[in-house]
Amino acid sequence: MEVPQRLLMGPGPSNAHPRILAAQSLPLLGHMHPPFLKIMDEISDGLRYLFQTDSKYTLMVSGTGHAGMEAAIANLLEPGEKIIVGVNGIWGERVADLSERYQGQVITMNAQPGKTFSSAELKAAVAQHKPAILFLVQGESSTGTHQALGDGLGEACKAAGTLLVVDTVASLGGVPLFADKWGIDCIYSGSQKCLSGPPGAAPFFMSERAMDKLRSRKTKPATYNLDMNLIGDYWGWFGSRSYHHTGPVSTFYAMREALQIVADEGLDKMWARHLAAHQQLWEGLHSLGLQSYVENDADRLITVNTIKVPEGVDWAKVVKNAMDKYNLEIAGGLGPSAGKVWRIGLMGYNATPTNVALVIEAFRDGLKQQGKL
Ligand SMILES: Cc1ncc(COP(=O)(O)O)c(C=O)c1O
Repeated sequence: MEVPQRLLMGPGPSNAHPRILAAQSLPLLGHMHPPFLKIMDEISDGLRYLFQTDSKYTLMVSGTGHAGMEAAIANLLEPGEKIIVGVNGIWGERVADLSERYQGQVITMNAQPGKTFSSAELKAAVAQHKPAILFLVQGESSTGTHQALGDGLGEACKAAGTLLVVDTVASLGGVPLFADKWGIDCIYSGSQKCLSGPPGAAPFFMSERAMDKLRSRKTKPATYNLDMNLIGDYWGWFGSRSYHHTGPVSTFYAMREALQIVADEGLDKMWARHLAAHQQLWEGLHSLGLQSYVENDADRLITVNTIKVPEGVDWAKVVKNAMDKYNLEIAGGLGPSAGKVWRIGLMGYNATPTNVALVIEAFRDGLKQQGKL
């Protein structure tokens, strides 16, 4: 196998922390062996800290962010129920598609790519439709926006009998998130971005209210693989433990170590480090005359930054030059931003001043080659 060493500064995966790669190479245990079950319990604890919750319902779904996404919808939406999906990039679009497949009645709320939803419009929509779920993406990695989630949105959802479900795949660990304080009911994420792990495990959280909904369903979730009653039982949510699937042992070791690294650094410091990397990046990019795709400062996602491609610049050549000359991955746009932006991920282990300086240098060089500096 030939695996080149590359610096991954696109929207993910990010480079894995060496401690996490080392943890992954530890000897296998049986997926029901007591020492392994203890590691799973420690993961649940680490996730409580990461999500800022006291809920007992935290675990890693065996699969990537999409598995977390499907688990959220398949378990919390019953056929015929309404779901409001905030769409301002491809992730909302996918959840709308997924919700239709689970026979939900989908109401999409659209915002222009690069914009977010105001809490007033979200609260008004929830009060009007009283849906089973309001779904939002905290960090829209296709457009680089950060959706605000506080400001009484959770209370408004609770008052309408609505569960607030949030995608944090591109944001968890990089920006503040308070599951309990903000009244969020279900969150999923991914291991390969701000948590600096390999892809393959999706941090997952449900509130007591979400669990009540799952318990009181009239029909079983239409998925066996992602039925949270069954997976929760493997993770010890209900006291006993039974086999549902063979937990991906090495991936769980990796996540145990990733959560230890989060705890060692502390969330406040981790959030501050990501913010500092974002500020450093934009100081450098502005000095090269580059501008953000997201116009409103408050809407900018600091973990995945979208940079407008200036008139007359071939974005793909800049990307290729970065890879060929610096072994550095930067990415183009996705969905509504395709061809219009570059995307720079500043996530986890990679969010350091040295890496950011290299990204800026790659832009300087790429633009110079096209006669734009
Ligand atoms: C915001 C967001 N949601 C969901 C996903 C899907 O995650 P995965 O590719 O791990 O399945 C991604 C992946 O980039 C993402 O950025």
